[in-house]
Amino acid sequence: MAGKPIKCRAAVAWEAGKPLSIETIEVAPPKSKEVRVKIEATGVCHTDLHMKNGVDPGVTAAKANFPCILGHEGAGVVESVGNEVTKVKPGDHVIPLWLPECGECPTCRRPDSNICSQLSDSQARGVMPDGTTRFSCKGKQIHHFMGTSTFSEYTVLPDIAVVKVNPKAAMTDICLIGCGFTTGYGAAANSAKVKPGSTTAVWGLGGVGLSAIVGCKDSGASRIIGIDLNPDKFEKAKHFGCTECLNPADFDRPIEEVLHEMTGGGVDFTFECIGNVKTMRSAFEASHPVWGVTMIVGVATADDQLVFPPYKLLLGRTLKGSFFGGYKSNVGIPQLVDSYLEGRLPVAELITHTMAFEEINKAFDLMIEGKSIRSVVKFN
Ligand code: APR
Ligand code: ZN
Ligand code: ZN
Repeated sequence: MAGKPIKCRAAVAWEAGKPLSIETIEVAPPKSKEVRVKIEATGVCHTDLHMKNGVDPGVTAAKANFPCILGHEGAGVVESVGNEVTKVKPGDHVIPLWLPECGECPTCRRPDSNICSQLSDSQARGVMPDGTTRFSCKGKQIHHFMGTSTFSEYTVLPDIAVVKVNPKAAMTDICLIGCGFTTGYGAAANSAKVKPGSTTAVWGLGGVGLSAIVGCKDSGASRIIGIDLNPDKFEKAKHFGCTECLNPADFDRPIEEVLHEMTGGGVDFTFECIGNVKTMRSAFEASHPVWGVTMIVGVATADDQLVFPPYKLLLGRTLKGSFFGGYKSNVGIPQLVDSYLEGRLPVAELITHTMAFEEINKAFDLMIEGKSIRSVVKFN
């Protein structure tokens, strides 16, 4: 089919607040420096839910331009490539990158940054870098999302937005390395660089929070305290490495006070993996006032404000964010896949539900009901 349009299944978000609609769409062939990928499996991430609901997180990479095809946590096989593509070839197993790595832009060139600004503008507008889309359905152009659109059997991406991975890895597992796992794990193991013996606390025991727990454990944290309003999440959190779990609703005082008491003065590393400014404030307050580090991992909305008295930073505390686990995609993602193949990363254990592509709306329902950690949708 190289060079020709492909007809295939996709879940189209026609407008905000509606279930996704399974449609037959047409996917144009890749243009120069573009790649067409057959998606085998895709995770459903909280950011997809925000987008489906029309919530603006204020992050340029994630903007829904309706109608669009959501999905940014996938794995697949290169079907064909356009001119001037040398990074991958047909048959390569790849992970789509919502955070690409061009290697040439000012932020890519910095060794201490994993941010690439090359596609920011086209991602925000839901188009390919040439300003057009490769998807059409019922005579309408359908927008891309986060440059990935993995809720389609075939998708087209700029070549800088894919990375080749070891083909031995199961696509149904490693799709989670395309977002949730990497975001949480890297926030702890890579961005925060949790020191052995440290005390840590993680707000939100969803896919991202559990992955942060794995990162804390791998880094040798002595205590990993999980915090969630849903106690059904505690068992799994302990399995992943939590030493204690707390439900803020069980206490008649702020959870940060409880944590200061438990740790004798404040937690060394705190992680907010929910996307709520109230829990971000708690995570900040719970950190040690002198050497505490708070990582913002969850994504709030563009209108949210995080407010705290600035003197709370003066003694040396750090408050910072982490995007895609701080990994530069071209090296970091294949390495994580290799670690998974060596049995060192419990990626598959995050998956609570696997379903056929046609049932994708069920994945959103399970997430809303708090019944799933991660749902993975398969095309075959
Ligand atoms: N206090 C404590 N726990 C809470 C609260 C709260 N106020 N609100 C929600 N939670 C818990 C939920 O019970 C759930 O277990 O946070 C967890 C969130 O998990 P998921 O919904 O599965 O979200 P996840 O996919 O892990 O993503 C978390 O990271 O990447 C971002 O956009 C993503 O902002 C989201 C965050
Ligand atoms: Zn995501
Ligand atoms: Zn770049």
